[in-house]
Amino acid sequence: MPSALPEGDPVPTDGSLPPSALAELGARPFAFYVHVPFCRVRCGYCDFNTYTAEELGPGVSRTSYADQAVAEVRLARRVLGERDLPVDTVFLGGGTPTLLPPEDLGRLLRAIDDEFGLAPGAEVTTEANPDSVDLAYLERLREAGYTRVSFGVQSAVPHVLAVLDRTHDPLRVPGVVEAARAAGFDPAGGGSISLDLIYGTPGESNDDWETTLEAALACAPDHVSAYSLIVEDGTALARRVRRGELPMPDDDDLADKYVQADERLVGAGLGWYEVSNWARDDAARCRHNLGYWAGADWWGIGPGAHSHVGGVRWWNVKHPAAYAGRLVDGVTPAHAREVLDAGTRRLERVLLEVRLRSGLPVDVLDEAGRAALPGLVADGLVEDRTDRVVLTLRGRLLADGVVHRLLT
Ligand SMILES: C[S@@+](CC[C@H](N)C(=O)[O-])C[C@H]1O[C@@H](n2cnc3c(N)ncnc32)[C@H](O)[C@@H]1O
Ligand code: SF4
Repeated sequence: MPSALPEGDPVPTDGSLPPSALAELGARPFAFYVHVPFCRVRCGYCDFNTYTAEELGPGVSRTSYADQAVAEVRLARRVLGERDLPVDTVFLGGGTPTLLPPEDLGRLLRAIDDEFGLAPGAEVTTEANPDSVDLAYLERLREAGYTRVSFGVQSAVPHVLAVLDRTHDPLRVPGVVEAARAAGFDPAGGGSISLDLIYGTPGESNDDWETTLEAALACAPDHVSAYSLIVEDGTALARRVRRGELPMPDDDDLADKYVQADERLVGAGLGWYEVSNWARDDAARCRHNLGYWAGADWWGIGPGAHSHVGGVRWWNVKHPAAYAGRLVDGVTPAHAREVLDAGTRRLERVLLEVRLRSGLPVDVLDEAGRAALPGLVADGLVEDRTDRVVLTLRGRLLADGVVHRLLT
């Protein structure tokens, strides 16, 4: 099951925010994240807040979910007031948003548009499992206003997918990407297509990873996210590793595979713009995620979803039944919140912006951080420049270590 929520400060039952947070609204792009907490089966490595039909328990169903999410969009409007707040990006993640009928996804987007208005050229993404959509489904989404689809491909190699407990047929992926393109999710149609990959799965050889990269690139995606496999506590994968049935991913192997990915993706015309993300050009970058990394304001709809507005971060109750109950009672689904002080906000900027190709402005660092820079340059971890901290390839492999040295 997904891990527990952190505790924090209580949230007023109407969800209201401190005036200091509201005062910052509009200074940065505003976004919605909508969490759809359902999956057909649970993948062994995944600790996202998601539930199969059996795990959901009585009293909750997928059918009523869009209504609850729409109710939270309306609550967001009440809390944020009548100020002009066009929505720059919307991202539906999960879980598996595409387990809901396309009408529900359309209804959710319409509610956000009705309440807040989408900004001209808004980016609207949904995650999708390759086996949960077809051409007709994708056409409906495009017509409803979705512009970007992100497919969870993970691997093209059957024995790797089997260790991950992925149930989709890798041979279906090229067809489904082609269907997305035909539906208008490509630059010519004003959209874009992204593929998620995972490397470092136990038993994955360099040749297997090469096969996955080649298969992904053969689909000509506009964007690729490549994540190293994280063995999350409490997952079936972690239990198998603990029992000695599978080895823990090896750091050197992960580094080799990162370099392999960067070479292949750059060779195919996709440049890195964040440590785990590559895009065909600036227009194909994920604006929604760039917002997270740049400290934008967003409202997270759904069970367990996190939000951030003007230095206040809050998170919703985790279980879909508790979430539904709160909305039926007309109270906020927020579980708790924290007000970020200036020190924490600066620390988070360092953590996130260092990972971007555009880098971290040096003036965000304190004196000790600036003093660490010559050493990081000498070690080949950051570029030799005075305005921004930009990771080299070696620095991308050791990004956590770079952050540590900048903050101590
Ligand atoms: C919310 S999940 C996935 C969306 C969709 N349900 C799917 O699985 O295709 C977003 C992405 O996170 C990545 N991910 C999830 N758990 C991970 C883990 N333990 N280690 C590395 N990447 C992970 C996967 O690449 C996945 O596509
Ligand atoms: S389909 Fe996606 S969200 Fe669902 S269990 Fe698998 S990785 Fe997690």
